[in-house]
Amino acid sequence: MDVANNTVFITGANRGLGLAFAREALRLGASKVYAGMRNTSGFNEPGILPVRIDVTDKASIAAAAELAADTTLLINNAGIAALIDGPLADDVEAQSQRLFDTNYYGVVRVTQAFEQILSAKPHAAIINVLSDIVWLPRPFLTPYAASKAAAWSYTNQLRFHLRDRGIEVLGLHVGFVDTDLTSGIDVPKVSPEDVVRQTYDALAAGKSEIMADQGTALLKSTLADEVPGYITPPEGLF
Ligand SMILES: NC(=O)c1ccc[n+]([C@@H]2O[C@H](COP(=O)([O-])OP(=O)(O)OC[C@H]3O[C@@H](n4cnc5c(N)ncnc54)[C@H](OP(=O)(O)O)[C@@H]3O)[C@@H](O)[C@H]2O)c1
Repeated sequence: MDVANNTVFITGANRGLGLAFAREALRLGASKVYAGMRNTSGFNEPGILPVRIDVTDKASIAAAAELAADTTLLINNAGIAALIDGPLADDVEAQSQRLFDTNYYGVVRVTQAFEQILSAKPHAAIINVLSDIVWLPRPFLTPYAASKAAAWSYTNQLRFHLRDRGIEVLGLHVGFVDTDLTSGIDVPKVSPEDVVRQTYDALAAGKSEIMADQGTALLKSTLADEVPGYITPPEGLF
């Protein structure tokens, strides 16, 4: 699917990767761009329509879906992270519940609310923003990794389930991106604009997955190895 002439709805689009998705959609000629966000006050991006949505709140999701019933491309982007001491930390359960509510159940809720809208269109698509972390051991991100792995699994079930309904499902996997989410982590990062460009290119090419940086592509290439990257990460991968 080309973004041009489609109506795009993005969750978590007031900043970071979500805002980059919105701006690039506009640049590519989308007929309408809805920027979903928890707080719309002060948002002022010419040509981009702010819509209130909290992915943990079903009523706000239903209201957003009603307002944006002309959506043909849904981007499940909203997400949160937390740094903890590792898989055995005292707060692993509490943080996992908090992150799953947004990163996994948030994707499920928004997808459910938009499914009928998308099914009614001759051609529609969903992009789920995932991560390299679904394959990479980073113990300090254990709850985040588990929530994204769950969202990846959901993405795979969804793609297969929707294959006969004219709805494409594209999973975006990427490592560290230069946004607020990673501001406390001192590692090399790719730009949100670059990630977004590659993702829309992959959508236009009809791909089901995009590895949006070299490290993630390398990591995925090890999955069939005897010692895959999720057991021993490739050298140089942060
Ligand atoms: N940055 C990275 O390195 C990286 C790598 C791989 C994947 N990702 C994924 O990329 C996506 C975007 O992250 P980002 O890097 O752009 O982070 P970010 O700059 O922190 O932005 C996160 C966005 O999600 C929104 N959000 C959080 N909880 C929400 C909720 N309950 N309902 C609606 N919106 C909510 C935030 O809204 P508020 O402004 O209201 O908080 C914000 O707009 C996330 O899914 C993240 O996991 C990021």
